[in-house]
Amino acid sequence: MPRLIVLLAAASAAVCTATVGPAAAAHAPIDAPAGVLSAYALAAPRSESASGLVARAVVPRGAACPALTVQAPRDPARRLAMAVRPAPADTSPAFEAITVCSRAIPAGMARASIAGTAVPAHLPTRVRRLALLGDSGCRIASWQVQDCASESAWPLGRLAQSMVADRPDAILFNGDFFYREAPCPPTAEDQCGSSPPPVAGLPFTDSAYGWMADVLVPLAPVLSAAPLIVARGNHEACYRGGNGYFLLLDPREGTQDTCAPVRTDKGLKAAPTLPTATYALDLPVSPGRTLRLAIVDSAGGSDTQVTTYADAQRPAYATAARLTARQPGRESWLMTHRPLYGYVTDQFATPGVPFNPWTSLDQSAAAYGLLDTYDLVFGSHAHIAQAVQLTGLPPQLVLGNAGTLLDPASGYPLPTQPLDVGDGRAYPSPRWAWVAVRFGYAIAQPGAAPGQWRLSMHDPQGRQFARCGLSDRQLYCR
Ligand SMILES: [Fe+2]
Ligand SMILES: [Fe+2]
Repeated sequence: MPRLIVLLAAASAAVCTATVGPAAAAHAPIDAPAGVLSAYALAAPRSESASGLVARAVVPRGAACPALTVQAPRDPARRLAMAVRPAPADTSPAFEAITVCSRAIPAGMARASIAGTAVPAHLPTRVRRLALLGDSGCRIASWQVQDCASESAWPLGRLAQSMVADRPDAILFNGDFFYREAPCPPTAEDQCGSSPPPVAGLPFTDSAYGWMADVLVPLAPVLSAAPLIVARGNHEACYRGGNGYFLLLDPREGTQDTCAPVRTDKGLKAAPTLPTATYALDLPVSPGRTLRLAIVDSAGGSDTQVTTYADAQRPAYATAARLTARQPGRESWLMTHRPLYGYVTDQFATPGVPFNPWTSLDQSAAAYGLLDTYDLVFGSHAHIAQAVQLTGLPPQLVLGNAGTLLDPASGYPLPTQPLDVGDGRAYPSPRWAWVAVRFGYAIAQPGAAPGQWRLSMHDPQGRQFARCGLSDRQLYCR
């Protein structure tokens, strides 16, 4: 923890130095030099923001929210007050170190900045490159520790710098941001000694310092570069990192209490993890061609069996299907953290127990029969890169390799077991699959015809290690 505090203090001081001066002082109080710790823009449904973007700033507690400065073409810059996004109820003191500030970015802006730091001012007017990734945090659990101090063992910071160099127009971040769920064991101080531990006695594991360490500091290079399009992973379940997710990253107004703990006679307990409302975002690709993303919250449910959670999850996929009804000129991707038909290594098999490689079964059941509108299903969750093609269905892309400890490197034969979701329902057999177990992210570039995309898989140094082509709902990688 001491090292992190030093880092945050240094970042804060640097921003202060850049903004202190007569021009900044003249605009107090809303533009007082605030020592902004992090500034970024989140893609939001149009009902939340006319531009499709919401700006956020994270400042030290006690500092005023900075102004959001915006400028339309040929107009002078304007300063807009940002409002405090309150910390979730009953989470004190986990988020007391920071204040989160939020403001919808008006439509038609050419530039936006917060205390001198640029943030994306608009969604892309024409998509040329999208970055895709998921599963990024440094794992600290009672049973496993990742070396957060090593760039090769936990490469998220390096990966973020490479991603910026690829100049993405938007970044699709498919959940599982937060992995620092336990104190660093005394025997592993050299690997995770700088990591903030969870606050003892609270029914969840995240905190302001945890999110700074796992997400906002390593991602700093990308936050000015492109809007974030985010989905919630199971690591953002309410008993894990959900409070920080809804405070910092959910783009919707008023959602910060989604995971606020529940008061009981015996004290606080974690809120239940339930799917939040599905929404859609549109990204223009070329004249007459739009990519619609349907974003489903799949933080809850079981990976290994179909439970009653599937019934609670199904409306999220029904809404997504309705939002992506086929229209001329529109193609659609489903973005949902847990794969609908991804599979894991047979090294996860338990001796003597029949092994089912398919994950995640509650999601597979919930989405069954609701996938005709998509050109691609983008998931993460398994800590690998994977593509799976089932006959008659959109391809499943899995990218859960952005920094969290990878799954075992081998043992991915094409499953022969049917993906059975109960009640006589089963998905078609897989025709083809591709797996790579290495850290990285993907850059997707549109092809000439509707539905066509080229994807390149990059390692944390930005080097391409595989290529994929998507066309007519068929994905091939090599
Ligand atoms: Fe994960
Ligand atoms: Fe996950």
